[in-house]
Amino acid sequence: MRMIDIIIHKRDRETLSKEEIEFFINRYVAGDIPDYQAAALCMAIYFQNMTHRETTDLTHAMAFSGETLDLHDVAPFVVDKHSSGGVGDKTTLVVAPVVAALGQPVGKMSGRGLSFTGGTLDKLESIPGFSSELDIDQFRHQLATVGVVVAGQTHDLAPADGKLYALRDVTGTVPAIPLIASSIMSKKIAAGADGIVLDVKVGEGAFMTNLTMAGELSSLMIAIGKRLGRNMVAILSDMNQPLGFAIGNALEVKEAIATLHGGGPADFREHVEIIAAHMLLVSGQTTSAEEGRRLVRQAIADGSGWAKFRQFIAAQGGDLDYVDRPAQLPVASIQEPFPAPATGFIKRIAAKEIGIASTILGGGREEMDDIIDPAVGIVLHHKVGDPVQAGEPLLTIHANDRGKLAQARPLIAAACTISPQPVEPLPVIYDVLR
Ligand code: URA
Repeated sequence: MRMIDIIIHKRDRETLSKEEIEFFINRYVAGDIPDYQAAALCMAIYFQNMTHRETTDLTHAMAFSGETLDLHDVAPFVVDKHSSGGVGDKTTLVVAPVVAALGQPVGKMSGRGLSFTGGTLDKLESIPGFSSELDIDQFRHQLATVGVVVAGQTHDLAPADGKLYALRDVTGTVPAIPLIASSIMSKKIAAGADGIVLDVKVGEGAFMTNLTMAGELSSLMIAIGKRLGRNMVAILSDMNQPLGFAIGNALEVKEAIATLHGGGPADFREHVEIIAAHMLLVSGQTTSAEEGRRLVRQAIADGSGWAKFRQFIAAQGGDLDYVDRPAQLPVASIQEPFPAPATGFIKRIAAKEIGIASTILGGGREEMDDIIDPAVGIVLHHKVGDPVQAGEPLLTIHANDRGKLAQARPLIAAACTISPQPVEPLPVIYDVLR
């Protein structure tokens, strides 16, 4: 078998066999297939798509490309959640400790920023000392002792996804349904989660820009998970505008901390309650999402979610001084308000442009080896539907470099539209699929 033939088959719309898919994954992980051939195949998949059978085979090959975890000796049932990628999405920082505080162990393998979307690990690493590089023994130990662990993909688990994720990020091959489904599901399967809540983002700031595509991706991932005996739920949530107010690593950590203290933006609180409630539901801890939401609100109100967050951050080396006094977290040297161009109602705060602007400011990576600036980003002061007066600050740009600020400003201007007529607020959740 030759890699060139596999690329040609897919380029010419043929269906790849299980053997061809396994050949590609095994040889790519072994370092026998160069990145340029892997990128060519990803691009062919992007244009020609894959059947459900091919995607399932791809997921399987990726999930078993390294070690797989069986966590049942440390926790009888482990739950995980995964977002398909959004802007301002700091959900894991709140739901993981809250669900763990309610007695349900959460073992999560997270990713870094991808394209214009942020990554949980980059956010957590803005807390000085925090380490997401845990080996499998450390992962198991923390799950057993703290009940919550959020780690980066170790080289041992689903290494095929680790390599392909970084490659897709810089080759324009992220938004392909088979590649997203196999990327997400392979690491969830390898990491040993029994229950999986998929947060599938929909809208102009998501890889899935409409409900049809998001439904297709969700059904595919649910089918793959169920076939492997996992309890699955997919929540289709809005990503036309950023989630919450803060976009940028330390800025999002501060917003997550405020939310764990019972504050935070209303849309983010609602989103957190729904995702956490479904994590409890797929784990059999509750019998309804409503009961779960009540428990989640209670764990935030009584401080047990916050206490678990501190325990989790400390276990992974984070300096608690910074989470107890988040004003000490990295702060950008320039904070420039962005004025509303007209009086009226906010019609659009385009998540994608805001995500790209945050990346330009240094909050994300444009190339694989770029170093993230944890302090920079954007803080919204309003959401779609809010009334505004001309000249009042719509948002504040946090920057450390005047050149990057000048580059980001026109994108931010293009992202925001004001209408003279009233505008309906955007929903937080569109659908829940099981
Ligand atoms: N999240 C992932 O883990 N993988 C993707 O491909 C997209 C979002």
